Amino acid sequence: MRYPDLPYLTWARGLYGRVRLDLGSSNASTPSWEDLQMSPADVPLHADQREGPPGLFELLAQTYTFEPDQVAIGAGASGVMSQVCRALLTPGAGDHVVCEAPVYDPLKGLPEGMGAQMTYVRRSGPGGSGGIDPSAVIDALRPSTRMVVLTSLHNPSGRQIPSPTLAAIAAAAQSVGAFVVVDEVYLEFLGPDAAPAARLSPAIISVNSLTKVLGLGGLRIGWALCQDRSLVDRVRRCFLHASVNLASPSVAIGMQALRRRETLIGRSRAGLGEARDTVQAWADGRSDVRFHAPDAGQVAWLELTWPGASGRALSDTLLHDHGTIVAPGEFFGEPAGIRLGFGRAPEVLDEGLTLLSEALDALT
Ligand SMILES: Cc1ncc(COP(=O)(O)O)c(C=O)c1O
Repeated sequence: MRYPDLPYLTWARGLYGRVRLDLGSSNASTPSWEDLQMSPADVPLHADQREGPPGLFELLAQTYTFEPDQVAIGAGASGVMSQVCRALLTPGAGDHVVCEAPVYDPLKGLPEGMGAQMTYVRRSGPGGSGGIDPSAVIDALRPSTRMVVLTSLHNPSGRQIPSPTLAAIAAAAQSVGAFVVVDEVYLEFLGPDAAPAARLSPAIISVNSLTKVLGLGGLRIGWALCQDRSLVDRVRRCFLHASVNLASPSVAIGMQALRRRETLIGRSRAGLGEARDTVQAWADGRSDVRFHAPDAGQVAWLELTWPGASGRALSDTLLHDHGTIVAPGEFFGEPAGIRLGFGRAPEVLDEGLTLLSEALDALT
């Protein structure tokens, strides 16, 4: 296997957490021990030898109205995605994968690395903000297609894929023996009752984690939900081979976060509507940008509208002159834009938009 470079991830890892002002991040801030209503003394350090962390499958099943044997776990959504790829794809077998674009790097890197033949279906609109055409995905299916990769809410546009679109794609995928993997790490920015896509069809696998909406990416806990128990069993086997178990301190904290998820989701969503409106009003006041508001969440696409516009030049200027980070559009295949993360306190967002204006003025 030859895993391709992951330009976005490599760039992001070197910068996030090291800059003065962050207008790039897609995850909610990390909750405190107080938010979690627990303390370090509640966290066990011993290894648990049982198969799977006790109670975690049940808790996830109860949270999402699935059965425990319809749940698989892994090290974050990334770990789960790698297990799903290994469960569905056979290197050297000529497997075909349909993947949306623009897409978060590793979602295509994994199947590419396993040698799958890739067909990319581009979402319409700047940054994919116009959504995905189900007929384009369905037309791309082949008898050898094993997997369709989608995200909802989408990174970078924050757009949700409507249920009828997902159901139509799933029905077509099922007819060629493929599964639809829906990365839903941003799902609960829609609210705690947002339903996983896997409810719609046994051909859909929903992948989610504690990283984005609950702000607990450091725990590295993710899960997959699927009505098809035999697929879940294969995904679990991949986990057993690769990892044996999750880190028991993480599981203790993660389970407490899941018990308190409604409160924590509320905390993460608070102020996002106002922040989005602030960005919209700022963008409406300028002639060199167009803001494509998300359905939910704290990231969205900012289109740069002047001739020859470069999101990378804007990002570099912001970083070097103002210690501020935004994600350049080139990492999503669209150089004339940036992904803007606006989940910030009002005064921080105001300062960030002022700096963004200064950087734009310097470039246009
Ligand atoms: C669409 C998408 N999936 C997965 C991840 C990573 O999730 P995790 O930290 O749970 O591995 C990210 C992080 O940026 C993402 O944007």
